[in-house]
Amino acid sequence: MADASLAVTWLGHATILFESPKGRRVLIDPWLNNPSCPAASKDVGHIDLVLITHGHSDHIEDAPAVAKNTGATVIGNFEVCQWLGRQGVEKVSPMNKGGSQDHDGIRISMVHAVHSSSYIEQKMHWRIVYLGEAAGYVVRFENGLSVYCAGDTALFGDMALIRELYAPTVAFLPIGDLFTMGPQAAARAVDLLGVRQVMPIHYGTFPALTGTVGEFRSLVEPKGVRVVELTPGARQEIHAADA
Ligand code: NI
Ligand code: MN
Repeated sequence: MADASLAVTWLGHATILFESPKGRRVLIDPWLNNPSCPAASKDVGHIDLVLITHGHSDHIEDAPAVAKNTGATVIGNFEVCQWLGRQGVEKVSPMNKGGSQDHDGIRISMVHAVHSSSYIEQKMHWRIVYLGEAAGYVVRFENGLSVYCAGDTALFGDMALIRELYAPTVAFLPIGDLFTMGPQAAARAVDLLGVRQVMPIHYGTFPALTGTVGEFRSLVEPKGVRVVELTPGARQEIHAADA
């Protein structure tokens, strides 16, 4: 087998592309025109699954286009999937918190997040569309590696239940502050989750997102947690041994 490991490419902000050990391509929260996404990475190529954490435009903006261009199945909560259907997305697979679904050996569990979820439509009249509750995901890949993608969230105590139920070894956590956890709360999340490896996201996209990897690192590395600072557009392997 040429490559049985999990690979990740951060595309800036909250957009994450996974290549699973068996070659499935899973895209989280596609917003490819975010200021951090390199031009060469905006064409994501073939995609099997798109996962949406919530309806804010910085997480869902390019989901309809990616789904139409690639034929990917889009997973999101019931409201998000209904909305995507109205945008012309043909393959949706709705779920809600507490549930799991399997796609070709990849298990996707939707978990809690503390955040809001809506989309502002301005085509005809300005209106704000409610899109259900914000969520996070635990994705268990074919090699057994479980990854927690928190989505946008505040810190919440039931992250301890995510640890208990799904035992993720790697977490993608927002650290930018203002709309999500900042470094201090994210460091506390690491304690509750029990993860040994963290990849910070949702920071630095705009000046308003002030949380830094440096601050986060200074809080968690003394506890033996590995912080991986991803470079947008740069593919990187995630090994269970590192976790
Ligand atoms: Ni949001
Ligand atoms: Mn966001």
